[in-house]
Amino acid sequence: MPLVTSTEMFKKAYEGGYSIGAFNVNNMEIIQGITEAAKEENAPLILQVSAGARKYANHTYLMKLIEAAIIETDLPICVHLDHGDTFELCKSCIDGGFTSVMIDGSHHSFEDNIALTRQVVEYAHDHDVVVEGELGRLEGVEDDVNVSAEDASYTNPEQVQEFVQRTGVDSLAIAIGTSHGAYKFKPGTKPQLRFDILEEVERLLPGFPIVLHGASSVIPEFVKMINEHGGNMPDAIGVPEDMLRKAASMAVCKINIDSDLRLAMTGTIRKYFDENPAHFDPRQYLKPARAAIKEMVRHKLINVLGCNGKA
Ligand code: G3H
Ligand code: 13P
Ligand code: ZN
Repeated sequence: MPLVTSTEMFKKAYEGGYSIGAFNVNNMEIIQGITEAAKEENAPLILQVSAGARKYANHTYLMKLIEAAIIETDLPICVHLDHGDTFELCKSCIDGGFTSVMIDGSHHSFEDNIALTRQVVEYAHDHDVVVEGELGRLEGVEDDVNVSAEDASYTNPEQVQEFVQRTGVDSLAIAIGTSHGAYKFKPGTKPQLRFDILEEVERLLPGFPIVLHGASSVIPEFVKMINEHGGNMPDAIGVPEDMLRKAASMAVCKINIDSDLRLAMTGTIRKYFDENPAHFDPRQYLKPARAAIKEMVRHKLINVLGCNGKA
């Protein structure tokens, strides 16, 4: 099976009331853990690559690893640029075989965001590639950009129809209270998302796929594992799974997960070294890390996204 775009995945996910997992990938073990779980659960997948991941692992290495995963799994897999910030970066990924790109113009004015997004859409659609845009700004850290709570802003539903119409985007990321990284909600407070905004967006854009960034649950088991084995993470609170299930049953067709992969990998490796301080063969500690990613992703596919059996 060749790489696919997300068009068909989103159509089926919208109609079926479930969501596709979009997992950030940086190396072979992460790709293997995710795709082995998806194969066993027969789930469609989006593997996404940030600018930082592309710098770290190199475009060609990541494409070839993903090609290998397709050969091994025969699953519908979409390769997506996460948080593209310039036309040139999006073009380079499109020219290099990605089937989907995000142009994140959310830091620009409404008009500048539209102009930049439109430019990417024109090039992408000429090359049969789909585009995700963003309206509203999430708090947290992406690459070197740190968006503070004061600079974060919820999506204004009044702008979504005009944005989608004028840009021609295929999906839209909105800000309803999630944020990037491990520290999403203040300790001692109850996590809350603005489902009223999501409902209003859904009403204004019927049938249109919505994307949720910053959607890791910051799985407590892995935070605990890190802290029990030499780590020192402060209270980390993510998006509760029932909220993600609710979003998936609504217009949200793509749920972005990176931090949970990082926590699973780091927790497992810390535990391994704590228990085996003399070991130094990377295969010995990467093997359980890959297995932890696989089981964590399996849990998400079945219990959070509901996309198991949908490939
Ligand atoms: O939204 C950001 C993703 O977690 C990617 O993170 O830019 O550090 O690779 P990164
Ligand atoms: P998390 O930090 O919650 O995993 O979000 C990842 C993300 O939105 C990637 O674009
Ligand atoms: Zn994101």
